Amino acid sequence: MRGTGFLLGLLAARVVYAANDWGMGDANSKLAPPHMFRPLSTPAHEISTLAIFTLAVTGAIFVIVAVLLAYSAIRFRARRTDDGSEPPQVYGSGPVEFAWTAVPVLIVFVLALTTGRTVYTIQAARRPPNALGVRVVGHQWWWEFQYPELGIVTANELHVPVSDPRDPRPTFLELESADVAHSFWVPQLAGKTDVIPNKTNVTWIEPERPGVFLGQCAEFCGTQHALMLLRVVVHPRDEWEHWVASQRAPAATDKSVENGRRVFASTACVNCHVVQGTGATGRFGPDLTHLMSRETLAAGAALNTPANLKAWLRDPNVIKPGALMPAMDLADRDLDDLVAYLETLR
Ligand code: CUA
Repeated sequence: MRGTGFLLGLLAARVVYAANDWGMGDANSKLAPPHMFRPLSTPAHEISTLAIFTLAVTGAIFVIVAVLLAYSAIRFRARRTDDGSEPPQVYGSGPVEFAWTAVPVLIVFVLALTTGRTVYTIQAARRPPNALGVRVVGHQWWWEFQYPELGIVTANELHVPVSDPRDPRPTFLELESADVAHSFWVPQLAGKTDVIPNKTNVTWIEPERPGVFLGQCAEFCGTQHALMLLRVVVHPRDEWEHWVASQRAPAATDKSVENGRRVFASTACVNCHVVQGTGATGRFGPDLTHLMSRETLAAGAALNTPANLKAWLRDPNVIKPGALMPAMDLADRDLDDLVAYLETLR
């Protein structure tokens, strides 16, 4: 069981670590791999228990069948001394037919019931009044996180408070898509939930301890599906209040980066991005008001460093081929000034 979990974990880790360039390999290697057999949130515990139970049942069936098969193959193998006659043929045995029908039906019934119970336990959970509500919007190829009650909008890094079992504070997620079907999956916190255009799906997480948890879009959604990563940052309570306050603060207005600000305001950036309190009100791309509070760029494709930001602005396709953000063809000086301006958006 442990071995299987380990292999599945490795596989999931491989997918996320495919973002190895641009410093992400190092950044991710400090985190626990997204391991569904190491659950840290109520829905993930339920799913992990069900997965282990199902593996145990199907594993037992596999072992029984394999042993019987091996035994028959060896015990009844062809021998020199065989006289060529057929063994006794048995037709129409009532008890045998009953057994091979009833036993599988019973097994399927038990698996269906336990699965149904798990699905119900997770989906029927009522949202408690103190729960945090987040609207998750899937885009090609990034995640938008809106906190309507707090007036915060961010991208690709979902920040939530820890949910101490003595004082639970779950986060309820309403998932929508801006374009095609995606799927929200953070293995240690909850099962995958499809993100479907024109439909709102709901899931919830209840992280038991602070930390950073890796997730991934789990539904093929176009060329950059594999680089539609996300991080869930779980804060201790006091740190959470601090994060909320910093995200609600207005955008920085540093006078030393006037040219960068001018470049930003006079190019197409403003048609797709928001910087609160400026003329940038586009909603197509991520909100940049507090861009520098995020660890990654381009939905986890690159570490958020000045060098990577510059490479991204020069030509997003270098980091993420097919990215919907266009290359702006800026002069090198303007590019540096633009990076300097964005670096002030803390
Ligand atoms: Cu979004 Cu795959």
